[in-house]
Amino acid sequence: MDLALKDKVGIVTGAGWGMGKAIAEGLAEEGARVVVADIDEARGIAATKQIVDSGGEATFVRADVSRWSEVQQVVSAALERFEHIDILVNNAGAWVMESFAKMQRESWDIQINVNYYGTLNFTKAVLDHMISRKTGCIISIGSDAARIGEPTQTIYSGTKAAILAFTRSLAKEVGRYGIRVNAVCPSLTRVERRVEMEESMRREDPAKFEAYQEQMKKALRLYPLGKFGAPQDVANMVVFLASDLRAGHITGQTISVNGGYCMV
Ligand SMILES: NC(=O)c1ccc[n+]([C@@H]2O[C@H](COP(=O)([O-])OP(=O)(O)OC[C@H]3O[C@@H](n4cnc5c(N)ncnc54)[C@H](O)[C@@H]3O)[C@@H](O)[C@H]2O)c1
Repeated sequence: MDLALKDKVGIVTGAGWGMGKAIAEGLAEEGARVVVADIDEARGIAATKQIVDSGGEATFVRADVSRWSEVQQVVSAALERFEHIDILVNNAGAWVMESFAKMQRESWDIQINVNYYGTLNFTKAVLDHMISRKTGCIISIGSDAARIGEPTQTIYSGTKAAILAFTRSLAKEVGRYGIRVNAVCPSLTRVERRVEMEESMRREDPAKFEAYQEQMKKALRLYPLGKFGAPQDVANMVVFLASDLRAGHITGQTISVNGGYCMV
């Protein structure tokens, strides 16, 4: 299916690793030119090189999404290199898993700053440009935790729910400029970070790994399709939503990519 993404320009935050990397690769495979924005320089450069080595066009800009001046630098660099910005994917995320009763206030800040302020910062930084061109597509990565709640993810769920509400309201505000705003909610997704964590647990603490496997088996019962997601599952939805040709009448929506884990 032609998505007509050739020569579109997309910024993907947190694109050095995990889902962000898969999203950047997916957009590049469709011919889009990609700005890889990540706080981790080594991962960001490696992800960019991989896209370029596969024949895509990409550039890396280091930035912490929670820092407004760094976000502005990414947008300036994108415009300097590619002249326009068509797609923004707010993907970078942070989480601290602990009960709300025990969690210290400092742990609230990183989650609110990266997830919610990061999304607001990048959206604000591209919006005037998109409004002036009367076109644009903003996709933010939420989480099923925001839709159904998860113990030990209270602050995280709150930040993601804020993103979903922001998405709906902004979609109503900027639809008249031809700008579409949507959110994609993954559930448990087997990104590299998780695979590496499992590998090291298996090597270093077999008993803990066995208990973890049991826990995962139980968790899997909540997935009607009988499997956890892969980064590419989420990337496929984001790339589709980025297409004005195929998803041009979709805005203000929250779409879960989750093997049926949560159905709301
Ligand atoms: N993996 C899951 O199971 C899962 C489930 C639901 C939602 N999500 C959401 O999906 C998104 C991607 O998650 P993931 O699992 O791929 O994460 P990941 O940890 O695998 O990768 C995150 C990337 O974001 C970058 N990053 C982190 N903080 C940043 C910051 N302040 N500024 C710029 N870059 C930053 C990291 O360097 C890394 O490259 C997040 O928003 C996360 O909340 C993930």
